[in-house]
Amino acid sequence: MKRILLLGYGHVGKTFREFLSRWSSELDAQIAGVVTRRGIMLGDNPDFRKDIEGGINEALGKVKPDVLVDTSSANYKDGEPSISAYYRCFESGIDVITTNKAPLALNFTAILDKAKKLGRRVGFQGTVMSGTPSINLYRVLPVAKVRRIRGILNGTTNFILTMMYNGVSFDEALMEAKRKGYAEEDPTLDLNGFDAAAKLTILTNWMLNRNVKLGQFPFKGIEGISMQSIEDAKKRGLKMKLIAYADDKEIKVSPMEVNKDDPFFSIDGVDNSLEVTNEVQSVTIRGPGAGSETAAYAAISDLFLFKVMK
Ligand SMILES: NC(=O)c1ccc[n+]([C@@H]2O[C@H](COP(=O)([O-])OP(=O)(O)OC[C@H]3O[C@@H](n4cnc5c(N)ncnc54)[C@H](OP(=O)(O)O)[C@@H]3O)[C@@H](O)[C@H]2O)c1
Repeated sequence: MKRILLLGYGHVGKTFREFLSRWSSELDAQIAGVVTRRGIMLGDNPDFRKDIEGGINEALGKVKPDVLVDTSSANYKDGEPSISAYYRCFESGIDVITTNKAPLALNFTAILDKAKKLGRRVGFQGTVMSGTPSINLYRVLPVAKVRRIRGILNGTTNFILTMMYNGVSFDEALMEAKRKGYAEEDPTLDLNGFDAAAKLTILTNWMLNRNVKLGQFPFKGIEGISMQSIEDAKKRGLKMKLIAYADDKEIKVSPMEVNKDDPFFSIDGVDNSLEVTNEVQSVTIRGPGAGSETAAYAAISDLFLFKVMK
């Protein structure tokens, strides 16, 4: 039975625990400890209780897990304490699964290289499109070189653009997104394109085999988009979408108009979509891009892949 240490025990962490107990025989794994900002819990319990003081370093020493599952909040300043914890894990023979995208958006190549060098695995499906297999899609599209990726990677902005297309103002659409729990109280990182850019950084490094960091390519969100421009596009048979784009020449996040033949034309509401074009073919997937259940399921799917892809 694999021993799991959970870093973070919020919406995703708690749902991950529920899923793990539901599918424990398929996954052959159990929670051996949980660490949050409040301290460390040893063993498994639905409600967090602090058994000992300490952070992730102390927890790794005490729990001695086989796998660290990082469901902690994103820290875009320096990716800590996750990045240092991952390095320590790789050096101690521990695999890492994360739904927290900050460490990989900031330091993808260094993290993946170190894991590879030390023979460890990193599962990160939950960092892009949650449980919709974007990252893990690439694991089953091997060998052929990826030429281009395009995505609608942020559900909040897609929801707002869909409502605006249907005649609702930006402010009302944002209020509705907050009411429905799609937008954070402070939605800045969604609206200004940062969140989509963080996901595009991970996808570009992973699928186009690049070494880019967040901040090294331009990104633009939907804050400046007027109702007039959406209506003008509609009259011309087009829809405005916030698109993350990368090929070997260009990487960017920007609002773009798409026509009805584009697979993204029908991606409405909070759905996400990704189109991957390689030397042989183009594949488009769509599905939910957020939500604690689908994010927890992403980590579960990584854990299962670790088991079957020895
Ligand atoms: N929810 C989604 O729809 C979704 C989808 C995809 C990816 N994600 C990502 O998954 C992660 C978790 O999301 P969530 O919705 O579960 O967040 P959340 O409910 O806010 O929970 C975050 C957890 O991280 C812990 N934490 C924060 N900093 C820590 C530190 N330095 N050391 C130890 N623990 C720390 C918090 O500890 P305390 O309990 O002590 O505050 C809390 O338990 C985030 O990175 C998020 O971006 C979320």
